[in-house]
Amino acid sequence: MSVTNRLLPTLGEREVVEQLRALRAQQPVKYTAFYSSQLGGIVTDPALMVIPFDDHMVHRGHGVFDTAGIVNGRIYDLDAHLDRFLKSAERSKLKLPASRHEMRDIIIRTTAASGRRDGSIRYWLSSGPGNLDLTPAAGAEPGFFVMIFAGLVYPEKFKTEGVKVMTTTYPIKPPLYAITKTTNYLPNVLMQMEAKAKGFDNGVFIDHAGHVGESSNMNVAFVSTDNVLVHPKFDHILAGCTSQRVLQLARTLIESGQLKDVRVADITMSEALASREMLLIGSSVKVTGIVQWDQHTIGDGTPGPIARALLQLLEEDMRSGDRLIDVPY
Ligand SMILES: Cc1ncc(COP(=O)(O)O)c(C=O)c1O
Repeated sequence: MSVTNRLLPTLGEREVVEQLRALRAQQPVKYTAFYSSQLGGIVTDPALMVIPFDDHMVHRGHGVFDTAGIVNGRIYDLDAHLDRFLKSAERSKLKLPASRHEMRDIIIRTTAASGRRDGSIRYWLSSGPGNLDLTPAAGAEPGFFVMIFAGLVYPEKFKTEGVKVMTTTYPIKPPLYAITKTTNYLPNVLMQMEAKAKGFDNGVFIDHAGHVGESSNMNVAFVSTDNVLVHPKFDHILAGCTSQRVLQLARTLIESGQLKDVRVADITMSEALASREMLLIGSSVKVTGIVQWDQHTIGDGTPGPIARALLQLLEEDMRSGDRLIDVPY
C-alpha cells in the first residue's frame, strides 16, 4: 500500500482544542455540564468533555455506568440508580474514587452547574488510564465522570401508536454480564441496529432456555389474558429501576380492580405472545405499549389500558413522588 503525501500534522495544545471545537461545531450536542475526576472539576464547553484514550473503559470496556432523570428541576430515583451503579462496580472489580455520599453529591452539584431542569444524568466509573493492557495499570486512579444532557428522545408515535419489536438473532449476554451495567453494550447496539434495519423499533433477547429477556436499554413486561402483570425474573437481565418501581406502583391497579396480580416469573415466548398487552419499561422510554412482535399482533394492535395507567402512575411519581431530590441551582 502506498503512503499518501497528504499533510499529517503533529498537533500542539492549541490546535487540538481548535480541532475539538470544530468537531462539536460540525455535530452540535446538547451536553450542558461534565464532571471528570481526572480534570478535577466541571466543564460546560462540550469540546472539553474528554477522557484519555488509554483509560481502560475506552479500549477494554472496563467501566460501569448508570443514569437518572432530571424532572422539573429535581432528580428522580437517584438512590436506586446509585445502588445499582455500586453493585455493578463491585462485580466489575472497580475501585471507587470516592464514597457513595461524595459521588452522589458530585452528581447533584454537576446537575446544578448545568442549569438543566429536564433531561438526563449519566455517570461512569472507569478503571483508569496508564497503559493498553487488560488489568488496570499500576497506580491507575479510577475515573468518575458525570454528564448532564438532554436525554434520549423517542418519536411521539411510540406513545400514540406503540412500538414494534423483533426477536433478535443476537445471543443474550450471560447472566453475570446482563445484570451488571457495564460499558460493554455491543449485543444491545447490534440488536437495535438489526431491528431498525428490518423496519422494527427495537429487539428482544430470548435466553437459552427460551425465556423472554429484555430489550436494548429497557425491560419488557406483559399483561396476561387474565389481567396479571408479569415481568421476567431479574436474574438474567438488568434490574431496571423503572421496572422495579412500576411493579410497586402497579399494586394500585390491583386495588382498583384493573389488574388481578403482579408477578415476576420466567416467561416463555409463546406465553408472552398470548398476552393481552406487552410493555417496554425504562428510564428513557418510561412505559410504552408494544403492538407487534415479529409478525404477531399484540392485543388489538394499539397500546393498551394498563400501559396507559402505568405510564400515568410513573409520571405522577416522577413529578411529585417521594423519590425526588431538589437541585441547588
Ligand atoms: C439492558 C437494559 N435493560 C433494562 C434497562 C432499564 O433500566 P432502567 O429502568 O433503570 O432505565 C436498561 C437501562 O438502563 C438497560 O440498559
